[in-house]
Amino acid sequence: MSTALVTGGNTGLGAAFARRLAAEGYNLVLVARNRERLEAVAASIRAGHGVEVEVLPADLEVPAERVMVERRLAGTIGGPVDVLVNNAGVQNYEVFDKASPAALKAEVDVNITAVLQLTRAALPGMLDRGRGTVVNVASFAGYLGAPGSSYSASKAWVLSFTDSVAASLPGTGVQALAICAGPIRTDRHARAGRSVGAPGSPLWSEPADVVDRCLNDLRKGRSLSVSGWIHRTVVNVLELPRRSLRTVARLAGSGREQQAVRARAAKQSEARTPNSPSRPG
Ligand SMILES: NC(=O)c1ccc[n+]([C@@H]2O[C@H](COP(=O)([O-])OP(=O)(O)OC[C@H]3O[C@@H](n4cnc5c(N)ncnc54)[C@H](OP(=O)(O)O)[C@@H]3O)[C@@H](O)[C@H]2O)c1
Repeated sequence: MSTALVTGGNTGLGAAFARRLAAEGYNLVLVARNRERLEAVAASIRAGHGVEVEVLPADLEVPAERVMVERRLAGTIGGPVDVLVNNAGVQNYEVFDKASPAALKAEVDVNITAVLQLTRAALPGMLDRGRGTVVNVASFAGYLGAPGSSYSASKAWVLSFTDSVAASLPGTGVQALAICAGPIRTDRHARAGRSVGAPGSPLWSEPADVVDRCLNDLRKGRSLSVSGWIHRTVVNVLELPRRSLRTVARLAGSGREQQAVRARAAKQSEARTPNSPSRPG
């Protein structure tokens, strides 16, 4: 049975991911700070879907606690993890020059450093096994943020990082995808004292729809999943120059990175082929 690790899996979009992956038969590892909420979501998923659910309470702002999650992903503790969903995220709503340094640091720690470190911990095992998926939750704010929003900058990093990682994976059996959504109807807005769009509003997405679209886009081999037709239309236009550049780079094709990617894919496929001549025994 495959296992998925979801950060921020005790509420909102992360809990929607956890429920949907459990419905597809995945065992789960749920990571977040609030143990009580983790246990509650885990119990309801075990009861509803009959899969195994581990809870791994960890504060992704704390380096030693990130290491704990890295060790779980690398297989140092527990079995292999086939799907990593880097969903945990925090948003500071103050304009940059008014925000507390601690809140700004939390955004970098959770939205950037944890995504980088957990992806780095998960990928080698996935590449060795020739299968695996990394989903990084970015945001439409990564394309156009509110003035002075460091959150937007952190999500722009997630988009760019995932794009680079995905470009190194063709032929390996491993996928990376970034989720880009406008506002999603989770509790975070009410908690921050902000208004929430009405159900059915074209500007707002439901968590379950974001997850559905993501899984659909993964099946189509995409590395970007955009929820909501309005946001998708805008992103398609914004992505045109990047896609064109990527095509030119691919056609040029003689770059060292491209050669390295191809060589690695060939080596991995050889290692996975039984009775391969280069394998001892
Ligand atoms: N909601 C939206 O409108 C929207 C739109 C676009 C993108 N997104 C992105 O979607 C993702 C999920 O958003 P959401 O609306 O579901 O948010 P949410 O309801 O605020 O949930 C955030 C999750 O992250 C966990 N978390 C926060 N800080 C953490 C830390 N230091 N260490 C470990 N876990 C931590 C929280 O659990 P604990 O508090 O227990 O740690 C919680 O499970 C985020 O990356 C967000 O930026 C959201």
